[in-house]
Amino acid sequence: MSAGAAAKPPILAVSPDSIRAAADAIRQGDLVAFPTETVYGLGADAGNDRAVAAVFAAKDRPRFNPLIVHVADREAAAALVRFDDRARALADAFWPGPLTLVLPRRPRGGVSLLAGAGLDTLAVRAPDHDVAQALLRACGRPIAAPSANRSGAVSPTTAAHVADDLGGRVAMILDGGPCRIGVESTVVDLTEAMPVLLRPGGIPGERLAALVGPLQAAPTGGPARSPGLLHRHYAPFRPVHPNARQSEFGDAFLGFGPGWPNATLNLSPAGNLEEAAANLFAMLRALDRDPFRAIRVAPIPDHGLGRAINDRLTRAAAAPSPEPDEDTWNDDRGPAAPCALPDDT
Ligand code: TXA
Ligand code: MG
Repeated sequence: MSAGAAAKPPILAVSPDSIRAAADAIRQGDLVAFPTETVYGLGADAGNDRAVAAVFAAKDRPRFNPLIVHVADREAAAALVRFDDRARALADAFWPGPLTLVLPRRPRGGVSLLAGAGLDTLAVRAPDHDVAQALLRACGRPIAAPSANRSGAVSPTTAAHVADDLGGRVAMILDGGPCRIGVESTVVDLTEAMPVLLRPGGIPGERLAALVGPLQAAPTGGPARSPGLLHRHYAPFRPVHPNARQSEFGDAFLGFGPGWPNATLNLSPAGNLEEAAANLFAMLRALDRDPFRAIRVAPIPDHGLGRAINDRLTRAAAAPSPEPDEDTWNDDRGPAAPCALPDDT
């Protein structure tokens, strides 16, 4: 089934009327794609099981992969999850912003169990984007929203990306222009004695550690803690070769920094990691086409936002692997076939 072939949904310029229409649609149980500072989200009323199920269906997403619940601020989040001192410190420092906190779910918080994939934790985040904030306030409901791409594809950073990926599977797309940060939020699990960095993202782990002490790396092997950690993710269709030191005839080359005058595209000619993160997904999409056979990517420094970029590139590069912990999250597909599409987040 190709969502891209379906009728294109309306792409609405941001205005008080379009925000109201989007809020009404969400309250009615429809899906609305909206911009955040990281990537576009595919939003549904987090309390509406049918709407949340429609999100999984629209993405072709494995059912047990939990969604991030978006809220306007810490107060709204506190109705859904239990904050401890560390969570309060992080939310005070980084919200609204690209940080997702995994916290104990309040059983009577009203969030669909499906949104949290039945876990007793819930991932919450307050996005730092005027349109996302206006939508949250207008609809007065927490909004469950994964990235607005088909499962396994690169996250969308423009309204056009969403329309290409999801076609008629979404009622409308609010167009807030390109996303400022361009990689997804950092996900940190605060339900353990030592916080766990489940996904590097828009806030570098170093900045979190400065407030809450050292972070554990996400465990590998064993049952998946965060299904977003499945090895192959964020993948274009063409093979991706990170850390490439030279171009190869027939392949696209994605440069970083001034040393690549002949690159097909350059994430940041000046070598700025923030600019590179903002360009990453759009450029991977742009290079994922004929006549290129593969996409080579120049080395990216592994600090600050470079960690999140390298994390996404490594996942894009990994061959699909039918690991036991993938099956754990693969409830609606059965065991992964060797060439099955990767699950994404
Ligand atoms: O920047 C972002 O975070 C974007 C925008 C739209 O907010 N959203 C996003 O959502 O990237 P998604 O669903 O594509 O990724 C959510 C990640 C996944 O890795 C998921 O497994 C993890 O968060 N996650 C969600 N709930 C969790 C939970 N209760 N425990 C552990 N991991 C969780
Ligand atoms: Mg995602």
